[in-house]
Amino acid sequence: MITEKVTVNDNPVVLQNLTRIRDKNTGSQDVRTAIRQITRFLLYEAAKNLPLVQKEVATPLAKFKTQTIDPDINIIISPILRAGLIFTDEAADILPQACIRHIGMYRDEKTLTPVWYYNKVPAITSNPEKHYVYITDPMLATGNSLVGAVKLYAENEVPLSNIRVICLIAAPEGIENLHGRYPEVEIFTAALDKGLDENGYILPGMGDAGDRIFNT
Ligand code: URA
Repeated sequence: MITEKVTVNDNPVVLQNLTRIRDKNTGSQDVRTAIRQITRFLLYEAAKNLPLVQKEVATPLAKFKTQTIDPDINIIISPILRAGLIFTDEAADILPQACIRHIGMYRDEKTLTPVWYYNKVPAITSNPEKHYVYITDPMLATGNSLVGAVKLYAENEVPLSNIRVICLIAAPEGIENLHGRYPEVEIFTAALDKGLDENGYILPGMGDAGDRIFNT
């Protein structure tokens, strides 16, 4: 199940925050703060695929050749609404050159399949290989929404190795589903849980991520 395409971040700071999130007595404000903290760790790790270029800067003391992220690439953060939104502010601070492309999907509670209601992913007409995409969704449960989101970019010929998924908690079923369709897409998560219950919720998980985050 854990392949080299799944990175489970076991940093103690991540684990401490995840423990706060899982606790049903933790309120929404603290859940949001804890997720923001975890976002930093996951995104820094996921962003290791960004290409670098040389850049000369003048420090107060000397000229110096250093490295920076290639300014000619397009970085896209794609939160799956609504819960995926929680990653956005932190991600935009970490990668200020990124654009945010929202994807609106909710889960049909009976069929557990995603229902589209909003899509801000434009047709990519030039240099799809220069696009680097981070799709965010706290819960990789059935994986159906993420399969749909990855498909949007795959159809635009963004290389699958440039598409990465950032989540908090993943279930083996979701990973299998996503990697069954798109084995090259790397997943960055803070936890890999046991599996899904009969309603498609992750066990032990954190409950309904949207409700926990938005206090609904
Ligand atoms: N979505 C959630 O919010 N929680 C789960 O456990 C699974 C899907």
